[in-house]
Amino acid sequence: MAAVLRSSLLAAARSPRLERAITRLPVSREVVARFVAGTTVEDAVRTAETLLRSGCFVSIDYLGEDTTDLALAAATVEQYRTLVTALGRLPQAQVATGAVRPLEVSVKLSALGQALPRDGHAIAREHAHRICAAAEASGVWVTVDAEDHTTTDSTLSIVRELRADFPWLGTVLQAYLRRTEDDCRALAGPGSRIRLCKGAYDEPVAVAFRERAEVDASYLRCLAVLTAGAGYPMIASHDPAVLAAAQVGVQSAQRKAEEYEYQMLYGIRADEQQRLAAAGNHVRVYVPYGDQWYGYFMRRLAERPANLGFFLRALTAGNG
Ligand code: FDA
Repeated sequence: MAAVLRSSLLAAARSPRLERAITRLPVSREVVARFVAGTTVEDAVRTAETLLRSGCFVSIDYLGEDTTDLALAAATVEQYRTLVTALGRLPQAQVATGAVRPLEVSVKLSALGQALPRDGHAIAREHAHRICAAAEASGVWVTVDAEDHTTTDSTLSIVRELRADFPWLGTVLQAYLRRTEDDCRALAGPGSRIRLCKGAYDEPVAVAFRERAEVDASYLRCLAVLTAGAGYPMIASHDPAVLAAAQVGVQSAQRKAEEYEYQMLYGIRADEQQRLAAAGNHVRVYVPYGDQWYGYFMRRLAERPANLGFFLRALTAGNG
C-alpha cells in the first residue's frame, strides 16, 4: 500500500495538469512553507543567515526542473548568478582556499536545459560552467543534484568535465540505483565531494532497488565505499539507522569532523540538525526557494505518508 501511494505521488509530481490544480489551491503555499524558504533571493539569503547563525551550513536550491525552453534555462542561470553574488556578500563566504565552504548552491541540470531536444547536454554543461564561475568568484560551492536515471550518464559526464576547471564541484549519487556502488568506487577519489542520498524518483526495477530494505542496505554499502575513499562524503539522510551507521563508519575510518558532513532538507528533522551541529558535526541544510515548488513538494509527500495527512488536513481546515 505504501509503495503504491509513493508511486502515485511520484507520478503526480510529473503531471502538469495536477500541478496546475494543486498550485492553485488557496492553502498550498502555507503548507509548502514548511519545506520551502520563500520565493525570492532575499528569502533564501535570510533563511541562510538564520541557519548559519545556528551553526549549520547551507546549500540553496532555486526550484525548477525539466525545462524545455532555452530562455527559461538561461533565466535560471541568471537567477543562480544573482543568488551566489548575494551569498558572497555574507561574511561566511570568506574562508581559506581549500577549507570547507559553509555556503553552497545545489543545481539541477534539467533546469539548465539538459532535456532540450537539440544540444541539451552541451547547453546544460555551458550553463553549469557559468554558474560555477560566478560561484567561485563569490566563495560559494556548487553541487549538481541527481535526477531520474535517464539523466545519470549525462550528469556525471558534465560533472567530470567541469571538475577540470572547478575541482571543488560536488555531485549526488542515489543509493537506490543498482549502478551506484560502482559509481562510488569510481568517483570517491581525492578532492571529490559526493552527496549520498537514497533517491527520490520512481525508478524501474531494472535499474533500481525498490524494496526499502534493499535501498537501505545499498546506502550502507555505498557509504562504506565513500568513507573508506579519499574524498569528502556528504551523508544526506534523515534516517536514524543511516545516521548511526555513518557515525560508526567515520569513526572507524578515523575521519575528523571536517572530513565529512551530514546533510538534511529544510523543514525535516530540524531538531536533529541542531543536535548534530551542537555535537561538533558539519551539518548542511538544503534550502529550496522559488515559485516552482510543485515537483519538490510532491517528492517530499511521497517520502512520508504523514506529510500527505498534514497537507490534506490543512486543505480540509482551509475549506471548512
Ligand atoms: P527515509 O525516507 O527512510 O526517512 C527516514 C526518516 O526521516 C523518516 O522516518 C522520517 O522520520 C524522516 N523523513 C524522511 N523524509 C521525510 C519527509 N519528507 N518529511 C518528514 N520526515 C521525513 N534525492 C535525489 O534523488 N536527488 C538529489 O539530488 C537529492 N538531494 C538531496 C539532498 C539532501 C540534503 C537530502 C537530505 C536529500 C536529498 N534527496 C535527493 C532526497 C533523498 O533521495 C531522499 O528521498 C530523502 O532524503 C528521504 O530519504 P531518507 O534518507 O531521509 O530516509
